[in-house]
Amino acid sequence: MHSPEFAWFSQTFRIAVLAAVGVLAAFGQQAPHGLKVEYLENPMGIDVARPRFSWQLGHDQRGQKQTAYQILVSTSPEVKTGDLWDSGRVESTQSVHVVYNGKPLASAQTCYWKVRWWDSAGKPSPYSEAARFEMGLLNPKDWKGTWITGGGQLRKEFVIKGAPTRARVYIAGLGYYELRINGRKVGDHVLDPGWTTYPRRVLYVTYDVTSYLRQGPNAVAVMLGQGKFDGRVLLFQLNIDTQGGEKRLEIASDTSWRVHPGPIVSDSVYDGETYDARLETPGWDMPGFSDAAWKPATAAEAPKGELSAQMMPPIRVVDTILPLKMTSPKPGVYVFDMGQNFSGWVRLRVRGPRGTEVRLRHAELLYDDGTLNVENLRTARATDVYYLRGDPNGEVYEPRFTYHGFRYVEVSGYPGTPKPGDVMGAVVNSDVAATGGFAASKPILNEIQRLVYWGTRSNLHSIPTDCNQRDERMGWMADAHLAAESAIYNFDMAAFYTNFLRNIRDVQASDGTVTDTVPHVWGRRPADPAWGAAYPLMAWYMYLYYGDRRILEQHYEGIKAWTDFLKSRAEDGIVRYYYYGDWVPIERTPGPLVSTFYYCWSADITARAALILGKTDEAEEYLKLAASIRQAFHREFFNPATGSYANGTQTASLLPLYLNIVPDNLRSAIQSDLIGDIVYRNNTHLTTGIVGTKYLLPFLTRVGRSDLAYELATQTTYPSWGYMISRGATTLWELWQEKTGPSMNSHNHPMFGSIGAWLYSALAGINPDAGAPGFERIRFEPQVVRDLQWVSGSIQTARGEVSCAWRREEQKLRIEITVPVGSEAELRIPKLGRDVVTITESGKPVWNKSAFQSGVPGVTGAKEEKQAVLIQTGSGRYVFEMQ
Ligand code: BGC
Repeated sequence: MHSPEFAWFSQTFRIAVLAAVGVLAAFGQQAPHGLKVEYLENPMGIDVARPRFSWQLGHDQRGQKQTAYQILVSTSPEVKTGDLWDSGRVESTQSVHVVYNGKPLASAQTCYWKVRWWDSAGKPSPYSEAARFEMGLLNPKDWKGTWITGGGQLRKEFVIKGAPTRARVYIAGLGYYELRINGRKVGDHVLDPGWTTYPRRVLYVTYDVTSYLRQGPNAVAVMLGQGKFDGRVLLFQLNIDTQGGEKRLEIASDTSWRVHPGPIVSDSVYDGETYDARLETPGWDMPGFSDAAWKPATAAEAPKGELSAQMMPPIRVVDTILPLKMTSPKPGVYVFDMGQNFSGWVRLRVRGPRGTEVRLRHAELLYDDGTLNVENLRTARATDVYYLRGDPNGEVYEPRFTYHGFRYVEVSGYPGTPKPGDVMGAVVNSDVAATGGFAASKPILNEIQRLVYWGTRSNLHSIPTDCNQRDERMGWMADAHLAAESAIYNFDMAAFYTNFLRNIRDVQASDGTVTDTVPHVWGRRPADPAWGAAYPLMAWYMYLYYGDRRILEQHYEGIKAWTDFLKSRAEDGIVRYYYYGDWVPIERTPGPLVSTFYYCWSADITARAALILGKTDEAEEYLKLAASIRQAFHREFFNPATGSYANGTQTASLLPLYLNIVPDNLRSAIQSDLIGDIVYRNNTHLTTGIVGTKYLLPFLTRVGRSDLAYELATQTTYPSWGYMISRGATTLWELWQEKTGPSMNSHNHPMFGSIGAWLYSALAGINPDAGAPGFERIRFEPQVVRDLQWVSGSIQTARGEVSCAWRREEQKLRIEITVPVGSEAELRIPKLGRDVVTITESGKPVWNKSAFQSGVPGVTGAKEEKQAVLIQTGSGRYVFEMQ
């Protein structure tokens, strides 16, 4: 019940809101917001010569559209004029990826920018607030220092004569670095920089360190870990401007730096870190520290790769977890259950005698007696060891240069009994923004969403990894592309995948081959065709979901070369080589069928990309190639005697159906076989490996069997996602089987997580449209199936929020959708097998017994289809009800 005060308040509030809306109407549109440059907010240190700008225009305006924009880019923070670039008024609906077209940008240049827009009535908005971006070091000669090495700790002191007004650090420290200035850690990145193919590329990171420096003596200090580089080297550049315009001071890495081993006795991503706090050198990161006993740094061989700006969300401690419970399976041994499999480490609080050795072992599993089962980590020791310095006030330790995939941690050697808060989980992964939300009335779907969410994020460590725990954690390419759409629905993956695609290009050889893992450590060259498919597919997803045409431009030649390589290996249109095929299935499918499927798809994507880029001759060439592969596929794998493809597994039937390889006259027979195999032979279970699983639910949905897809999705007996959940999974397993032991059975492997995308695309019905990619056109096709009562899904796209929520109400279906300004949508309202009488929007009739009723703002059309009523809208929030 509202109190009278509340009623008064809300009344006043409403009047105020109405007044504000009135003011807006009188003065035009709201200013753009959410300004981004190359997918990043106010990025520091980018090395794209012609960066792209994006902005958002809100979502609650019916049928509103941008008709023109103006961008100003300036050297001054106020952006009074566009002294670097004034786009002028450009008639365009484009609000995403507008390419900078002003004066050439110099190394380290700071740029400020603003944008305004004109709406459909031709009214201009005010300018947005100013945003900024800053260029990195664009020329190799900007780097004055040399690569140095010599120890885990490196330091340099220097004096700044005037007050510092602007200071930037550019740092490439391999494998990992931690930068400290005057006693403070700079920034909040961990496990930085991202892992690349170092002989081809090394990422450097830019920091604004103005506030860390002061007039007088200063010290910079760097800790180095091995990471995936297997060594410790540093390239460092600090440029300082001071008041009074004195000559710029440049501090760079050279052999005048002093080095010392430091307290990190050993560090390995897989084995863990040993930290001896007795070896700390207090004050080493401050000026005035006596480093007489330290050695001079030695020159290191440069890692050779091109220096590139790191332009993606860094790895951070993104969350902390309080353990669910502590047990003590043996005296002095404590096992903590974090309740969740995740990536990261333990933040340990401890007090005890100097030199006490505390050991932290990490595992995904326990034995029945409550002790740690580390067998499936294989050779990864996943053990952190901390030797206390003996501080009577207690000490806190967390490792720097390792991470673990775990749910359980065993603490031994702890002085006394740990109390709540002494052992905390630090969640560590690439800090991609969580931009999706999905929930449904069926609890198991929310559990699956949770598995996908944690499985995805815990496998983002500057590259997408296969797993987070054992001696592997590689950028296995099939795992990456099979989980990519799920990742994209749940997180902002644009900058992360932009980087990964460049990593893929970095491993590509002149014969077009790519490798099973990127960077290439495990697996082979050439990649299994299903693994190498990550190159065309992930580039395509960047186009489809983020509207990124530049990615296609940059990678077109590479994708084409990969397709051409497959062609060179094909015999009569069939690619026979494979290593893994439809990996870890219940029923095996012949590898050549899977390889040829991806060969066909690579040719398709090459053709599509050629078309988009205006290369019509090549588009035609690859379309022909794809058509010939389709024929070859059918000739080779279809067996007229059995009426099925190859050995008739679900994957063998599904893949040719999915890519329209099956001739029209056989379609329904193959489809019935597939469905029969699922329903009758396997009692509504899938038998697919990672490849088949990715396409099975989307295919069933596409052909009107979302009910069956839903049954598979909500299945709880083996093999199914529900089975994993019923066995206590908190992330996706590597295998459908519940396995433990020293073999291949990771309990956090995102590759079966493809179902995550299906939750959004089918149940919440949110789909991009290749004809107007990046959600400029949205296809809402919610599947109102079986016992599902309601679903709610939303994603943040480059244009703003897109959401769809539906609910069954008595005799009614209610659907709410959100379409950002700058987008349009098609909503397919399912008829649920009964005659629809009316569809209303916020109470007003839109469609009535097969006729569109005009007059609802923003709704531009409606027509009856076989299974649904198709409604066309512009931007806005809409509430449709179907009766
Ligand atoms: C990895 C994978 C990978 C596979 C290749 C495994 O060891 O963990 O997920 O795709 O090898 O077959």
